[in-house]
Amino acid sequence: MDNTKRVSEAYKKTESREEKTQFYDSWSKMYDQEMNSYGYKGPAMTASAVRDLYPDSRDVVRILDVAAGTGFVGEELIKHGFVKVDALDPSQGMLDEAREKGVYQELICAYFDEKDHTIPPDTYDVIVVCGGCTNVHLPCSCLREAVRLLKPGGYFVMATRPFHLNTVDEYKEGRFENLMDEIEEEGKWKKIRKEILPGYHAEHEGIVFVYQKK
Ligand SMILES: C[S@@+](CC[C@H](N)C(=O)[O-])C[C@H]1O[C@@H](n2cnc3c(N)ncnc32)[C@H](O)[C@@H]1O
Repeated sequence: MDNTKRVSEAYKKTESREEKTQFYDSWSKMYDQEMNSYGYKGPAMTASAVRDLYPDSRDVVRILDVAAGTGFVGEELIKHGFVKVDALDPSQGMLDEAREKGVYQELICAYFDEKDHTIPPDTYDVIVVCGGCTNVHLPCSCLREAVRLLKPGGYFVMATRPFHLNTVDEYKEGRFENLMDEIEEEGKWKKIRKEILPGYHAEHEGIVFVYQKK
């Protein structure tokens, strides 16, 4: 069995979010090597979407990388000149790997869900999520928390595979996008980008969403 298959088989055997976090803890030291081995471009795509929003003064933009893992997105953001980047992830093992890279200011070990975190409202210019929508990761309701944490005019940037949005119970039948649209109808943010991009993960396409808080 190749590595990709071994990882996905092991992952499928986990059920609760705590078991999944333990799985990531145990995978953390091999994560980068394995993801790089099959061409994972999602983090670069996510960081490019943020870069396109800020032609200059990137050093003052405050960013929260949700489901940051070992820090792939942070590494890409730093390449574009962003420096005020915090990481949030429930896996201490993944965060320990991220810390080694020195690309984050704060590392917050927590789940991102509908509950208010200790982070005050209107804190971030950008919230990024890449790879946070696989099975039993971010609940749809976390979108409300993203709105709370963004400054007015701030951006929510999310990249994932459409496959996950179409197949994972939490998201399928348009649940994730419907909630993003519902929040737009409530006048809380506005969709400014939705784009399918090839080569997100090996031969699989990705989708990038950008919403701007009112
Ligand atoms: C596939 S990894 C993606 C990591 C990184 N963003 C990347 O693109 O390489 C998914 C990450 O989501 C984290 N995660 C799972 N559930 C989460 C939740 N409710 N809130 C925040 N992070 C979560 C996992 O611990 C894991 O590190």
